[in-house]
Amino acid sequence: MRKLHVDLGKNSYDIIFDRGLISRVGEYVGRDGKKLFVMTDDNVGAIYADRVVSSLEKAGYEVSLCVLPHGEKTKSFDVLPAVYARLLQEKITRKDALVALGGGVIGDLCGFVAATYLRGVGFIQIPTSLLAQVDSSIGGKVAVDLPEGKNLVGAFWQPETVLIDVDVLGTLSDAFFTDGMAEVIKYGCIKDKKLFDTLAACGGKKGLVPVLDDVIYRCCDIKRGVVEKDEKDKGERMLLNFGHTYGHALEKYYGFEKLSHGNAVAIGMYVITSLAEKRGLTAKGTADEIARVCAMYGLPDSDPAPESEVVKGIANDKKNLGDKLVTVLLKEIGDSYLYPTTAEFFV
Ligand code: GLY
Repeated sequence: MRKLHVDLGKNSYDIIFDRGLISRVGEYVGRDGKKLFVMTDDNVGAIYADRVVSSLEKAGYEVSLCVLPHGEKTKSFDVLPAVYARLLQEKITRKDALVALGGGVIGDLCGFVAATYLRGVGFIQIPTSLLAQVDSSIGGKVAVDLPEGKNLVGAFWQPETVLIDVDVLGTLSDAFFTDGMAEVIKYGCIKDKKLFDTLAACGGKKGLVPVLDDVIYRCCDIKRGVVEKDEKDKGERMLLNFGHTYGHALEKYYGFEKLSHGNAVAIGMYVITSLAEKRGLTAKGTADEIARVCAMYGLPDSDPAPESEVVKGIANDKKNLGDKLVTVLLKEIGDSYLYPTTAEFFV
């Protein structure tokens, strides 16, 4: 068992790493409240809900289970009333807590419900995808989607604990694993050349498996450090958006359906770094290095979408209004900085 402590004053918590933990989660949940409300989706729930619920019951909790359909649509604002109704029906009080058992969709939704139900109740993250383990379960960004776009209603609401079991990634499809790898590579790019070199030396998923626990732990540690410095995303935390500006515009171009987040971020990291190299803002050869390592993990560096159309999406993005756009650039692999500019940067 390994542990990281996220030091956020009264909102501090531990991230606990232990293989096989999914069957023993009850041992790690030390709460006074009697009731736990577990939220999951039909895919993850079919494999893990029984063992999680029985472990929590064995530890003395009264557990209710809420299984939602898998997929991004479940993170919709419209899903909320039914979930709040279930919480009321189960008589969940402020002393009780929610448990997010799933990937980013369930984690974000459950966290948002926890942040808003009865003006806020505790929640525990049990992330089951690579992306959720290294990124979305840590740092308290919780949200739901509006028809106008993703994550438009949300909060900063830190979990009480994050429980990470690397074993559960064994049941993840290759496509989902690849998707999470974009964020793993991103951490190497922005903060840790040694991590980036390890990913390159592993050569792909097969080579990575023996060191996966250390790699996930390192990513979480990087995120811990960034979130501790800037919980509310006003400076340092924006570095985590490396590759996300172009990537997000690309996802939007495809209506958030055709292209996965990881693929979009991989392309975004390559595009912004190529542009920065041309302007003398990044060491020559960096974009090719990123493309080389992304390719090892099945991630692309380009897409047939017309760049001019994608860039229009950047200019129209609500986050980039007022002509201002803070991009994340690399000096070189492992060393990132914020670069205030405008959407013109991408033209
Ligand atoms: N996923 C980016 C962040 O947590 O800030």
